[in-house]
Amino acid sequence: MSTEIPLYVALDLDSDTETLELAEALSGFVGGFKIGPRLVLRYGPELIQKVSKKGKVFLDMKYFDIPNTMVSAVRSSFEAGASLVTVHALSGKEALSQLALLERELSAKRPFRILSVTMLTSFNADNLPKALSHRSIEENVEDLATMSFFSGLRGLVCSPLEVSKLRQKFPQSYLVTPGIRRSQDQLGDQKRVMGPQKALSLGASALVVGRPIVEAADPVQAAKEFYEEIKDFKTE
Ligand code: C5P
Repeated sequence: MSTEIPLYVALDLDSDTETLELAEALSGFVGGFKIGPRLVLRYGPELIQKVSKKGKVFLDMKYFDIPNTMVSAVRSSFEAGASLVTVHALSGKEALSQLALLERELSAKRPFRILSVTMLTSFNADNLPKALSHRSIEENVEDLATMSFFSGLRGLVCSPLEVSKLRQKFPQSYLVTPGIRRSQDQLGDQKRVMGPQKALSLGASALVVGRPIVEAADPVQAAKEFYEEIKDFKTE
């Protein structure tokens, strides 16, 4: 058990300079930085390397493709410097099983996790795509989590509202939850939200927080406040 800070800041920004400055300023208060296509397509994989010097990189590209393509994409992400990489659980058992083997191979070299995304936290019962709408969000999440877990992936991305159930069902899982808001934070497009302490106490392994920190008048101060709230929680 290490004592990593269970908080990843989503650096949803457009400028590499701003990203690196913010990563530098926040590095003592967070466990790592989530970046995705918005930055990587603009500045290339070099930015992953640069951010990885400030903290762990959580590369959120949410891969969803045929198994072979997903395996290659995740391997390239690892080689670029990512420590966590997201894939869509909906890509199915075959892809997820191959990814679980890859995770085992890569994590022998350095800490590395593949996180399977269940349902986006911007979905609710009213905007769920028709193909998935014959079942509730909770049922979809549980099915996708079960498939991921039995394919060999312990890492899952879920809404904080699903954490408690998933923690009970899969005690060994590594549950990452976006959709974190304190009472004073704006919701933005997030629909299923929870406060940081509550999410961790219900069993989240790590939190992803974007706008409440990045768009705060003083992002460093906001990150410190989150850190103060969660510093007593340990994660593996
Ligand atoms: O700004 P906010 O705190 O809502 O940022 C949450 C981050 O987590 C965003 O980068 C969003 O893309 C990401 N995310 C999410 N829901 C998921 C997976 C990732 O909100 N299921």
